Amino acid sequence: MAPVDPHSFADSTHQFANHISLSLYLDFASSTIHGSALLSLPNPHSGPLSLDARSLSIHSVLDPQSSSPLSFSLSPPDQIKGCHLTVSLSGHASFLVVFSTSPSSSALQWLSPPQTFNKTYPFVYTQCQAIHARSVFPCQDTPAARVCYSARLNVPRQLSAVMSARHVDRRGPVAGEGLLLVCGDQMWCAEGRVVEEFVMEQPIPPYLFAFAVGELGFREVGPRTRIYAEVVPAVLDSAAREFAGTEEMIRQGEKLFGPYEWERFDLLVLPLSFPYGGMENPRMVFLTPTVIKGDASGAQVVAHELAHSWTGNLITNTTNEHFWLNEGFTTYAERRIIEAVQGEEKVVLNIGIGWRGLNETVERFKDRLEFTKLKTNQEGVDPDDVYSEVPYEKGFQFLWRIERQVGRPAFDEFLKKYIATFKFKSIDTDTFLDFLKANIPGIENEVDLVLWTEGTGIPPDAYEPVSSLYTKILSLANEFSLGRVPRDDEVADWRGQEWELYLEHLPKSLEASQLLALDSRYTLSESKDYEVKVAFLQLAICAKCRDYYVEVEKTLKEVGRMKYLRPLYTALVQGNGKEEEKILAKRVFSEARDTYHPNIYIYIEEEKLKQDKAKSAHLASTSKDKDKGNKRKKDKEATDMTHVVDRFWCNNSHQCAYALAKFNQFKVSYNCQKETWSLNELISHCVQEEEKLKQDKAKSAHLASTSKDKDKGNKRKKDKEATDMAPQKKQ
Ligand code: BES
Ligand code: ZN
Repeated sequence: MAPVDPHSFADSTHQFANHISLSLYLDFASSTIHGSALLSLPNPHSGPLSLDARSLSIHSVLDPQSSSPLSFSLSPPDQIKGCHLTVSLSGHASFLVVFSTSPSSSALQWLSPPQTFNKTYPFVYTQCQAIHARSVFPCQDTPAARVCYSARLNVPRQLSAVMSARHVDRRGPVAGEGLLLVCGDQMWCAEGRVVEEFVMEQPIPPYLFAFAVGELGFREVGPRTRIYAEVVPAVLDSAAREFAGTEEMIRQGEKLFGPYEWERFDLLVLPLSFPYGGMENPRMVFLTPTVIKGDASGAQVVAHELAHSWTGNLITNTTNEHFWLNEGFTTYAERRIIEAVQGEEKVVLNIGIGWRGLNETVERFKDRLEFTKLKTNQEGVDPDDVYSEVPYEKGFQFLWRIERQVGRPAFDEFLKKYIATFKFKSIDTDTFLDFLKANIPGIENEVDLVLWTEGTGIPPDAYEPVSSLYTKILSLANEFSLGRVPRDDEVADWRGQEWELYLEHLPKSLEASQLLALDSRYTLSESKDYEVKVAFLQLAICAKCRDYYVEVEKTLKEVGRMKYLRPLYTALVQGNGKEEEKILAKRVFSEARDTYHPNIYIYIEEEKLKQDKAKSAHLASTSKDKDKGNKRKKDKEATDMTHVVDRFWCNNSHQCAYALAKFNQFKVSYNCQKETWSLNELISHCVQEEEKLKQDKAKSAHLASTSKDKDKGNKRKKDKEATDMAPQKKQ
C-alpha cells in the first residue's frame, strides 16, 4: 500500500479510473440516493483496487459484462477518510459498484420546502470539496486523480437537475435502467419520474463533481452564461442583474490567462444554507444568494470562482497539502480580473481586507503553526478543520511578491506558460517551484522561496497595499476609537467593501453607546450586505450590546455561510462574563443546526467542545496559580503592542504614507502629547519605541526564564513559536 494522498485510500501502485458512469435515483422521502457507479480503468487490472467511500452502503460489486459478483471488502470508518473499499479484480478494465448513500452523507444537503426560496418543493445539492465526493459514490477521491463522467439522475418530474457537466437530455425513464439498483426498475420507472442525463468530457478531480436538484429556472445573461436559481422571479431577476457583467469578466480572464476551456460558464444561486460564498464546480459555479447585494459587488465572488477555471480546475493541487496552489493562485487571478473590470482602487480594498484577515488568521493559528505554512503536512488532519485564509492570502502575497520582483509583463507571460504547460494536470508545490526557477532564472536568489513555502507566519517581504482611499478608511476607523463618527460626506461613496474594511479596523473594545451612535446614523446592523452586517454584529456582541441580539439570532437562523456563522458564534462564546451570550449561542445553535450543512454543524460543535476544554483548563490553571492570569494578560498586551509598532515600521517610502495615516492610533497607544510630527521624527520615534519594546520583552523573557517555572521545555517551545509568529519588519 503506497498512499498518494493523506486524505485518501487510493494507492499509487494502482491505476486511476479515467471514466465513471453513474445512475442515481434520488429519493427525497428518505434523503437517500440509490445508485450504481461503473468505473473504467485505462488498462485491465488484477488484484485488489482501493477506493474511498463514506457513509455508503455497498450492496454489490459486479462484472459489468456478466453481472456476476466480484468480491470486495469495506473497512470500518476512519474518522477523517471514511471507509477503505477494496474490490478484487481479475483482468477487469471496468467494474460496477451498486450502493446507497445515507441521509447523513457529508456532501449532500437535503432541504425541505421551508428551507427553500419557493417554499413549495424540496431541494438537494452536493458540496464535494474537500473530501466528500466519496459520500455520494465510491471513487479514488484524491485530486491527484482526474476522471471524466456521465450521469443519469432520476428525479421527480416537478424538479430539474443541473450538474458540473454538459446537459444532454431530459426524458422518461427506460425499462431496465433501474434493474441493478436497490430501488429496482419499478421505482426507477414509476409515474412522475424523469431522467436528466449529463456528460463531462473533460477530466476533473472528484471534488469538482456536483449536482443540484430543485424547482429550477434560469435567465440568459451572456453567450455562455445562464443564471440558474429556484423559480422565484425576484431571485432570478436580481441574480441576473447582479451578474450581468459576467461575460466581460470571462473575456478579461482569457486575455490574462489563456482560452476558457470549459465551454459554458453558468451560475447556480443556491438556497441560503449553502455553506460557502462560491464553489468553482466546472461549467456550473455554485453561489450563496448572499452575494446578491443589488450593487454588482457579488462580482468579486464570481471573479474568484471564474478564476478557478484556470487555477484549480485546469491545474489542480495533487493533495490538500498544496491547497495554496488552488486558492492562492485563484486569489491572485481573481484580483487581476477585478482590476481589469472595476479598477485598481477596488483591488486595493480587497487586498487590504485580505491582509487584515491573514494577520488575524495567523494569530488564531498561533498554537498550530503548521497551518500558517503554504506547503502543509496534513497527515491525520481533516482538511475542513484547517480551512483558513492562509492558503488564499499568503498564497496571494507570495505570487504578488514574485510579480513585484520580475515586473508585471514578465510575470504575466510566466503565468500563461504555467497554465498552458500544466493544464488538466494535478501538481504539487515543488513542481511549481521547479517550473518557476526554470523559467525565471535566479528568482531563488531574489525571493526566499523556501521561507515563503515552508516557513510559518508572514514573511518580512509581504506587503500591505497602499492607496489614498484605503488609508482614509483606516484613519477614519482610528478616529472613531477617539470618538468621531464619520460625516455623511465622508462615507457618501462607500459601498460594502469600504464599510467592511472600516468596521474590521475598529477595536473590539468599543462601548455599546458608540455602536448605537454609529448604527443610528448608518443602519449597518440592517445592511443587505452580510459582510457589513456581520462585521457590525460581531462588534455589538463584543460590546455586549443586547439591543442587537434579536438581529444576531435572525442572522444565525437565516444564513448557512460558514464565513458568517463562525465569527458570530465565536464572538458569542468567547471571553469572560458572557453567560447570557453563551446561553443564547447554545439555544440558537440547537434550534438552527438542522438547517445547517452537515459539515458546518460538525465544525461548530467541535469549536464549542474546544472552548469548553479551554475553559476547564483555564479554571484548573487559575486555581493553581493566581499570578499566571495576570502574566498571560501582560504577555498578550506586549504582543499586541509589538504588532502596532511593527505595522508602523517602515523604511519604504510607499509605506510611510500609510504610517502617517495610522499615526493617531500610535499616539493613543503611546500616549504621545506632541501634535505635529515630521516624517523623520515619526520614524525615529517608532525606532526608539520598538527598541524599548524589544528590551522590555528581553527583560521579561529573562525574568521568566530565571523564575521557577517547572515547565521550562514547553515554555521555550512556546517562546520560539511566538518569535516565529511575530510579525516582522518590512523590507
Ligand atoms: N473552493 C472554494 C470553496 C471551498 C474550499 C469549499 C475548500 C470547500 C473546501 C471556493 O473557491 C472559495 O474559495 N470560495 C470563497 C469565495 C471567496 C474567496 C471570494 C468563499 O466561499 O468564501
Ligand atoms: Zn477558491
